[in-house]
Amino acid sequence: MIVSTAQLFKVAYGKFAIGAYNINNLEQTMGLFKGNLDSQAPFIIQISKGARDYTNKLMLEGIIRSAEKVFPDAVFAVHLDHGDEATCVDCINSGFYSSVMIDASHEPLKENAAATRRVVDLAHKKGISVEAELGQLGGVEEHVQVDEANAKLTNPAEAQEFVKLSGCDSLACAIGTSHGAFKFTGSQGLHFDVLERIQKLLPNFPLVMHGSSSVPQEEVARINKAGGDLKGAKGVDENQFEKASKLGVTKINIDTDGRLVWTRVHREYFRDNPEKFDLRPPGKIFMAEYAKFIAHKNVKLGSAGTLPEVKKVLGIK
Ligand code: G3H
Ligand code: 13P
Ligand code: ZN
Repeated sequence: MIVSTAQLFKVAYGKFAIGAYNINNLEQTMGLFKGNLDSQAPFIIQISKGARDYTNKLMLEGIIRSAEKVFPDAVFAVHLDHGDEATCVDCINSGFYSSVMIDASHEPLKENAAATRRVVDLAHKKGISVEAELGQLGGVEEHVQVDEANAKLTNPAEAQEFVKLSGCDSLACAIGTSHGAFKFTGSQGLHFDVLERIQKLLPNFPLVMHGSSSVPQEEVARINKAGGDLKGAKGVDENQFEKASKLGVTKINIDTDGRLVWTRVHREYFRDNPEKFDLRPPGKIFMAEYAKFIAHKNVKLGSAGTLPEVKKVLGIK
């Protein structure tokens, strides 16, 4: 059942984080639903602008609506990931999305807040919540001087001001992660000090952690062994998710890890079966492997096993 993102946040805040997983196709959708049901977790499906344009935005909507029927016990929200203003408006008007993200983090604070406020005004009229972003994710490395590194992280006082100005419902904060498979060259971890200061100034306000793939080293090694070239790929330590969730991180975004599972399965399959050309056998393996990955990730997020309680609180039979 599709529920509102705000409802999920209310149940999860301070206790566990909801996994927000990107999808682009049918196989990811099947693995995602199965993995979340296997681990009894609520979840957020994320659709990026790129995913909407991959085929046609209506295709993913159709796949998700079908999945809702195939997996009637699933409880999830549908979210636009990294939207611009026009895409947010389109998603709000579609009546399909539970929440949207307006990403104007590249703009100065005032402009970012003004764009977010315009989206919030429209979204709230329809009961849709809005995620915004302040600060910039990206190559914060341990060898970078502290001042330089901190300049990219979210400033807690600015976060407080931004939330007030924009009226957003959740905030993506830059606390040391970055998108993709090459996050750190050294042993850089999450900046919990920044997170703590943000939570103090914004108590009970859901925070979002983007760029949270853990880029499992075993996965990278298997991809490289099967012909890939992902040397030096490195991600976030998944054992830090629990601490982050206690500090207000309520939504954790994971996309790259799913792409790595897809790449590993398909590279190994065609390496080991050079005479094969049916797309379904590797597709089947991927769906099962992705479901396994999701179930494992939900344990790390603390969302595994919470589905019965979430259903009870939301009044779902
Ligand atoms: O943060 C970005 C997500 O991983 C989505 O990536 O824009 O390539 O679909 P994408
Ligand atoms: P990863 O690239 O770490 O999976 O981050 C995904 C993300 O933040 C989607 O918004
Ligand atoms: Zn992101």
